[in-house]
Amino acid sequence: MAYLFLLSKENLPLAADEATRLLQLKRARLVQNALMADGKIDEALVKRLAYTRKALRVLFSCEQRRLLERIGNADLQPHYQDSFSVRSELVEGTQHVPLTAIADAIYARLERPTVRLRDAQTRFVVVFIGKAAHCCLELWSNAERFRDRAAHKRPGMHPSSMDPRLARAMVNLSGATREVCDPFCGAGSILIEAGLMGLACVGFDISPKMIALANANMDHYRISMCTLSVGDATRLRGWYEAVVTDVPYARATTTTHSDLAELYSLALGRAKGSAGSVVVCLPDSVDHRKVVRAAGLRIASDHAVYVHRSLTKHVLVLTA
Ligand SMILES: C[S@@+](CC[C@H](N)C(=O)[O-])C[C@H]1O[C@@H](n2cnc3c(N)ncnc32)[C@H](O)[C@@H]1O
Repeated sequence: MAYLFLLSKENLPLAADEATRLLQLKRARLVQNALMADGKIDEALVKRLAYTRKALRVLFSCEQRRLLERIGNADLQPHYQDSFSVRSELVEGTQHVPLTAIADAIYARLERPTVRLRDAQTRFVVVFIGKAAHCCLELWSNAERFRDRAAHKRPGMHPSSMDPRLARAMVNLSGATREVCDPFCGAGSILIEAGLMGLACVGFDISPKMIALANANMDHYRISMCTLSVGDATRLRGWYEAVVTDVPYARATTTTHSDLAELYSLALGRAKGSAGSVVVCLPDSVDHRKVVRAAGLRIASDHAVYVHRSLTKHVLVLTA
């Protein structure tokens, strides 16, 4: 089976890494904003993706000049349910075959089909990349309204809260499918996304006030598989499928350590002994490679994400 993921152009390496790690894609290759992969995937997971616009299953690929002929010979009826639409996406080069011709050719291969331009049950998408055309079936289109979950729209509001889309991508980078622990959970951005994706959540924060805010947010989003406690990330215990966390960026937000780099290394060292996978955001005000090394971990992926003039974060996927 072949798949094609049309990625958001906001941060392509991060988008590609998120899909590759969550879906365990083999032989994935990126052309502009199209990520192509072969093999088996768990299609139920694609709807979790934060930085993917559309996930497509490739029915066949051919040269553009052979597209109409190939559609004419294709058995499309088994894919049809109730109604259909046809769209095209140009990734690279020029689209030489007009959409109307493609739609007519597909129509001719279906038995008395109903055309529905919006909300069709069966959505065919033809993706043009250079000389090639990929005739695909849309599995999922991203309609997640991340802005509706921005920090200022939650009952437990706090300015340190991170962007929900990035929080979701971090959970996905960890590959977790059952549970996530955030030892610096703050108002809960990471755990909200994990909870909304059906994962069990465990959170700790040194501040009782932050735990109260996180609890208010979890109640608001009706996330029940969640345990939040006051606790110190440098004393994390237990075993979790994944630790996904966003560290405090200013000394004022931590009561335990005056040296932030030391706090990060200690906390990551504990995470290493407590989780199958670790994903963390570190500010570029510290030497993140040194912090990770001191924790006895290695960097598998490093994505710089600009937040504002005085803060760029490194989203790091770490391995032992
Ligand atoms: C950047 S904030 C996390 C924000 C969170 N990701 C969100 O979006 O809501 C870091 C949090 O770490 C907490 N913190 C500081 N020192 C800590 C420690 N030693 N153990 C646990 N939490 C700590 C702070 O109270 C703060 O809430």
